[in-house]
Amino acid sequence: MSMFEPTMLEHINTFLQLILKSTHTSEPFDMSSHCQNLGFDIIGSLAVGQRLNLQLDDTNRILLRLLIVAKYRVNMIMHLPPLRVFNPVLKMIPSRQARDFTRILANIFTARTAQSVDSQRDLYSFLQKPASEGIFENIWSEIVFFITAGGTPPATTVCALFFYLSRNPECYKLLTDEIRLAFSSADEITSGSQLSSCKYLRACINESLRINPPSLATLWREQLEGTGEFITIDGHVVPRGTQVGVNIYALHHNAEYFPEPFSFKPERWLALEQAGDSESSNLSKMHNAFVPFIVGPRSCVGKTMVYQEVSLIIAKTLWYFDFERCPGALGKVGEGDAGNQNGRNRVGEFQLFDVFNSHHQGPILVFTTRGDFHADLEPHTQSVR
Ligand code: HEM
Repeated sequence: MSMFEPTMLEHINTFLQLILKSTHTSEPFDMSSHCQNLGFDIIGSLAVGQRLNLQLDDTNRILLRLLIVAKYRVNMIMHLPPLRVFNPVLKMIPSRQARDFTRILANIFTARTAQSVDSQRDLYSFLQKPASEGIFENIWSEIVFFITAGGTPPATTVCALFFYLSRNPECYKLLTDEIRLAFSSADEITSGSQLSSCKYLRACINESLRINPPSLATLWREQLEGTGEFITIDGHVVPRGTQVGVNIYALHHNAEYFPEPFSFKPERWLALEQAGDSESSNLSKMHNAFVPFIVGPRSCVGKTMVYQEVSLIIAKTLWYFDFERCPGALGKVGEGDAGNQNGRNRVGEFQLFDVFNSHHQGPILVFTTRGDFHADLEPHTQSVR
């Protein structure tokens, strides 16, 4: 990951230049679409060493729109597996969009295979040998899965955090103060001890992952063959063949573990660090119940990268810019609706939609520059359309 960081920072710089451009005209900045483009540019480079270039050019952005459709389908099948029978039928329906999707992916794959395997330190370079030895059936399906798994969730975490910062001035002040005191220039903001010393930043990221876990679907599990006829969970006998799962959103909003579960309170994570022995039992319960990446052998392989990527995006953005929510109706995008009858009535909660991981809109913010700090971003803005 440290070898990959310069590439990651290049993509983050483009993101910052787009924010800078928005400040020239006080244009509203839609975090969801910009962060998605950034997330996929980063993961595309890591997966196949190719610039998907979603931030600067809309040619490949259709990939994101079609991925959402695909994720809706996968999500339905995951919860109701018999729906799988319709898959072959759906695949037979000719659609221009499906052709575009295949064509863009084919172009990306062809460009990568035209280069020597070791020309880039990307996922392809690591998987190519085991794939050629038959360990994988299809290297490209592994890579598409990796891009899908790693593109959206970091964007969700950044968007959720900016949503809560735009509504919690005290948190906003504590976080900006911490970052602006920890560094003396933007170039210093890289992975390392200075960034790790930003404890409030880490607490804000954890609180964002808690209150808006990007992986929303219940991840079903089944008892393995040859391990008996049943398992006992919390006193309940569950026969083999039954699918069991704990929904992360539900667990993260259980007041027994997270008091005031619908309030954005980064302080709860600082308390965990500072706790003495007398408090530590409740706090360690909280720690154990915090599972945005789940636990065990199938837990997320991207966890370390997530903290690196999200910390860099947030620290760099707050280094250069101040922001507030857009005035008027646009400023409400992403929040709940007090009159909603279906559980989406919490105005102060960033709304996620379960499409296996999550789909969301907003927050829409207005950024302003902080002093002259943006001078080192300025020369590049011509390349940003
Ligand atoms: C905030 C960001 C992220 C969250 C909350 C998250 C969460 C998760 C969760 C809950 C799983 C388990 C899914 C299951 O069991 O069905 C998972 C698996 C996975 N994640 Fe992430 N993820 C994030 C970012 C990433 C990134 C950036 C990458 C790539 C670098 C990534 C790659 C993967 C892969 C490859 C798996 C499958 C692992 C396996 O099945 O062995 N994730 N992630």
